[in-house]
Amino acid sequence: MNVLVVGGAGYIGSHCVKQLQAAGHHALVLDNLVYGHRAAVSNDTPFFQEDLGNRAAVSQLLVDQKIDIVMHFAAYAYVGESVTEPLKYYENNTGNTIQLLLAMQDAGVDKFVFSSTCATYGEPNTLPIVENLPQSPINPYGQTKLQVEAILKDLAHVGKISSAVFRYFNAAGASEDGCIGEHHSPETHLIPLAIDAATGRRAALKIFGTDYPTPDGTCLRDYVHVDDLSRAHIAVFDQLGKANTFVDYNLGTGRPTSVKEILTAVEKVTGFKVPAEDAPRREGDPPSLYADNTKARTELGWEPKYMDIESTIATAWKWHESNPEGYADQ
Ligand code: UFG
Repeated sequence: MNVLVVGGAGYIGSHCVKQLQAAGHHALVLDNLVYGHRAAVSNDTPFFQEDLGNRAAVSQLLVDQKIDIVMHFAAYAYVGESVTEPLKYYENNTGNTIQLLLAMQDAGVDKFVFSSTCATYGEPNTLPIVENLPQSPINPYGQTKLQVEAILKDLAHVGKISSAVFRYFNAAGASEDGCIGEHHSPETHLIPLAIDAATGRRAALKIFGTDYPTPDGTCLRDYVHVDDLSRAHIAVFDQLGKANTFVDYNLGTGRPTSVKEILTAVEKVTGFKVPAEDAPRREGDPPSLYADNTKARTELGWEPKYMDIESTIATAWKWHESNPEGYADQ
């Protein structure tokens, strides 16, 4: 398949490109490099620097490169910023996705894989989170992802574009060969921050909230390896061949891990103490989020390879050891 990976220079997108190539597909990357890193994409991967807002250029690219499937990873993903700058999120995450879908229609490309999030569920009443729980996001970031899901359902209904929606839990880790990994600027995610604190590159890690209704008082999340996420994107290809398809899958390990358990695992993997201090809760953090991944397992045959948190953190550590500053370009 010729697969255009939009946002392929970002964290999850770049790992998906590698997995697509390993599975024998022809992956091409489109990224505007606002948050992506050119160095996250190998030199032998066709790379196009373009904004999604440029519908005519994107449409031409889809035709010229004979694209079969578009995968869309290019969203802004800072939950806190989405609250303070909502229009930035609605403009890019919703508005530019509409431009991309229009470009696909113009070019006659009718298969789409979309990166959604467990944030579309807001604060669920029951755990683990199954796909058919009510979706009611508590921040604009989650709202933009849910809006796109609704658009995709409408497009599938009339047979215009078939799509697969993946709701990621907490993407974590790095490629096994240590070549690409997680580098956000600014960094807000727990595992890279904990590794930086362990190695003295940052001050003590703040534990946001120690009075949650969880076994150790800190938030529970479902940390799923980025390569496991990527493999699901390829496993869904067969389903996209059918018209009127809209399928959705929650992608997580199904295992909750607390913030404190992450710090212990980082210490074990790195051999360094993680300096940490208790801090107030971070606004908008639900106490517990973890997936019921039965649907992805049964329908896609998806089996997460990284089921224990230490093996996931070991890959993040490998990447960090050879790239302590992350990618050189930012
Ligand atoms: N945390 C800390 N200290 C830090 C950073 C994080 O205690 O310095 C805690 C958070 O409070 C949370 C956990 O670590 O309990 C994980 O936080 P992350 O920021 O790593 O990840 P989130 O769960 O907040 O966010 C992830 C994705 C988002 C997605 C969200 C859905 O990164 O894109 O899950 O809730 F929207």
